[in-house]
Amino acid sequence: MARPRLLVTRRIYPDVLERLIAHFEVSHNQESDTPRSKQELIDLIAPSEYLFCTVADRIDADILAAAQGLKMIATGAVGTNNIDLAACRARGIPVSNTPDVLTETTADFGWALIMATARRIGEAERYVRGGHWKGWSFDQITGVDVYGSTLGIIGMGRIGAAIARRAQGFGMQVLYHNRSRAQQEQAARYVDKETLLRSADFVILVVPYSQETHHLIAKAELALMKPTACLINIARGGVVNDADLLAALQARQIRAAGLDVFENEPALLPGFCQLDNAVLTPHIASATRATRGAMNHLAADNLLAHLAGRPLKTPVA
Ligand code: GLV
Repeated sequence: MARPRLLVTRRIYPDVLERLIAHFEVSHNQESDTPRSKQELIDLIAPSEYLFCTVADRIDADILAAAQGLKMIATGAVGTNNIDLAACRARGIPVSNTPDVLTETTADFGWALIMATARRIGEAERYVRGGHWKGWSFDQITGVDVYGSTLGIIGMGRIGAAIARRAQGFGMQVLYHNRSRAQQEQAARYVDKETLLRSADFVILVVPYSQETHHLIAKAELALMKPTACLINIARGGVVNDADLLAALQARQIRAAGLDVFENEPALLPGFCQLDNAVLTPHIASATRATRGAMNHLAADNLLAHLAGRPLKTPVA
C-alpha cells in the first residue's frame, strides 16, 4: 500500500526524519534550510497529505487551498500564529504544536535577555572585542540591579509562570497581566496593564500573537514605562510596534530592550543594529539542542498518532 505523503518544510533532526521515513513518503530537503517561497510551498504541498512545518512557514489560505488532500499539520513550535487555524478548522484539518517541552528552556532565555539588558552584556562584549578596553574603572559600563527589582510579566501561561518562579531567586516583586487571572498567584500579583507598565523595572512579553495582542506595546504603552525600565520580547514580532520601540530606544525614553523576535523577521528595521541599548537575538528562545530535539520528536509523535488513528498528543484547540 502506498505510504501517505508528508512534506517537511525545513531541515529536521536526522533521528526524527528516520522515524518519519519509516511510515511516510517524505518530501524534504536536509541539505538546505533556506525558507521556501510561497510558490515553492504551494507546489510542494499540492500532493501532500501531511505537513510538518515551522514558525517560519506561513501556512495561509492560499497554501491550504493548494493542499486539497491535506489531512493534518504538525508545527514544530508552540506558536501557531503562522497558520490559518480558522481555515484548517473549516476544512477539518487538525493541527498540533509543541507546548510544554520548551517551557523551561524558553523561560531561561527570557532571563538571559533580562540579565543581558540589565548588565549591558552585548555592549560590554563589543567593547572588549573592539579593543576598547584600556583598563578598569568605577564607572565602566555600569548597569542596573536585577536582584530586588520589579518584574512585570505580560502573558501568564506556562512560560510566564516559569519566568515568575525564577524571579523568586532574585528576590523580585513580580507583577503580571493576563487575559484571565492565573490559578497560582503565590509567585506573582495580578495588576492591570497600565499599572504593570508604570511599575516594572523589567517588562517581559510572553503572550501568543493574535489580533488581540497585535501592537500590545506601542507608543502609548512605551510612554507609560519608567525611563529606567527594560523591555524584553520573547513572544512574537507584531506584539510590539517595532517602529515605536526603535524611536523610544533612540530617544532613551526607556533604558533598553532585549529582543528575540521582530515584526518582519529576519528583516530588521534600519536603526536597530545601530542601537547600543538593545540586545538582539535571532528567534532562539527555545534553541537548546535538547529542546529543539524534543520539539521535533513531539511533532513526529503527533503525525504518527494521526496516521495510526490515535488522538493527537498536543492538539491545537
Ligand atoms: C517559537 O517561537 C515557538 O513558537 O515555538
